[in-house]
Amino acid sequence: MKRNKLVYAILLFLSITLCVQSCQNENSINYKRYYVNGKGLYEKHCQGCHGADGEGLGTLYPPLTDSNYLKLNRNKLAFMIKNGQNEEIRINNIVFQGQMPGNNSLPDIDVAQIIVLVASVKKTPYTMTIKIF
Ligand code: HEC
Repeated sequence: MKRNKLVYAILLFLSITLCVQSCQNENSINYKRYYVNGKGLYEKHCQGCHGADGEGLGTLYPPLTDSNYLKLNRNKLAFMIKNGQNEEIRINNIVFQGQMPGNNSLPDIDVAQIIVLVASVKKTPYTMTIKIF
């Protein structure tokens, strides 16, 4: 009787562990897929201004790396990518007054993939609620 309970407990533990592991694998596969697709989309839609590594260009185009502005405004990122931006912003003590064009025809999934890429460019991956208008 006691041995049966032990066997059940072990089986239960194993199946929970397997289940958790397969979920994690699926998440990391999804993350990698988003990242790779996001890289292609970034090259096509963003790199021309923000640079291959998100380093920006002088006082014309702001950097995406170590940008406090991006950290504080990450909830607006999807909106910004879709609609562009045209206001005076200060990033790492440099004022930018340029105009970023919107990408209104980009499908939501592409915006999400770009966000995964941009989030990892900063080397501080974060999770966020993606609100797309
Ligand atoms: C034509 C050049 C251009 C393109 C293309 C462009 N941007 Fe921008 N981006 C800008 C400019 C200029 C600003 C500053 C806007 C302002 O002053 O309000 C900016 C601002 C930003 C900001 C906020 C500031 C910062 O550095 O954190 C983010 C984030 C951003 N862009 C991401 C992107 C992403 C992602 C893409 C591709 C989907 C993209 N941009 C495409 C020119 C561009």
